[in-house]
Amino acid sequence: MTGNKHEPRAGIDAFYGDRLAAPAAAGETPLLAPDYDPAALAALPDGLVATSFGCGDPLAFAAVETGATVLDLGCGAGLDLLLAAERVGPAGRVIGLDANPDMVRRARENAARAGAGQVEVMEGLIEALPLPDESVDWIISNCVINLSMDKPAAFAEIARVLKPGGRILVSDLVAETLPDWIAAHRDLYAACIAGAVAERDYLALAEAAGLDDVHVLDRMTYGATEVRALVAGELPVAIDSLAARLGVTRDDMLDRIAAEMSGKVRSIKLHARRGGGEVATVA
Ligand SMILES: C[S@@+](CC[C@H](N)C(=O)[O-])C[C@H]1O[C@@H](n2cnc3c(N)ncnc32)[C@H](O)[C@@H]1O
Repeated sequence: MTGNKHEPRAGIDAFYGDRLAAPAAAGETPLLAPDYDPAALAALPDGLVATSFGCGDPLAFAAVETGATVLDLGCGAGLDLLLAAERVGPAGRVIGLDANPDMVRRARENAARAGAGQVEVMEGLIEALPLPDESVDWIISNCVINLSMDKPAAFAEIARVLKPGGRILVSDLVAETLPDWIAAHRDLYAACIAGAVAERDYLALAEAAGLDDVHVLDRMTYGATEVRALVAGELPVAIDSLAARLGVTRDDMLDRIAAEMSGKVRSIKLHARRGGGEVATVA
């Protein structure tokens, strides 16, 4: 349930460093998140969508109040940070955290370009948050916890830093049983596929951390088309090398992965709340 303990952190950092350095071509966005408001995306700094790797809009179901403190776990280049900044307004506080120093730098640049002075970005691990106990109202996260090699620690940290009554709204990928050759593939781990756990295990992680009111608000199951887009968008180089190793074309390789994974991977919106305090409403 804790993911692949053998996958080095450095592999994930290198993967996202490469993805930032070589953003998706126009029309090949790796952002598989149809629930974002297109007008909100269009207003973001140029190039931000092409360097985003989320699997759903975590704020779509979060009634974040003006003046609130929001923490984004694994904020990447900062797309959700800027949307959260709109919600909390100038009196609020938005904290982004990411393990990858290139992502942290890019998120800071994007916040500065957007004039979002209430956004601050920290380098760190979601399993050891550099924040005090009971210090945030909302935690959001977009396609990150599946990458954690110690998911119980990540959820324990979430429970620790949430204020009593604070909530989480997480968009993430879950997966039912995947074939071994996919589960063991390093790049597929970094691309949010091989590290994903079953939905019931994901909910159990949140409950084991002591969070209340744990439930899934929305689901999007990936069919062959979405799996193909996810893999082709996130793994252009790995797919070519896998195809060459197996002596098949790139298209055949993508078809094979899509056929194996179709219907087994889905994006969920997980809600949970820390007990006590005032109960915020869900949109
Ligand atoms: C799939 S990307 C999603 C980025 C961003 N949330 C978005 O929607 O574009 C995963 C991000 O999580 C970060 N990450 C992965 N594991 C992490 C960890 N254990 N602690 C902090 N950040 C992590 C990566 O550096 C990367 O920026």
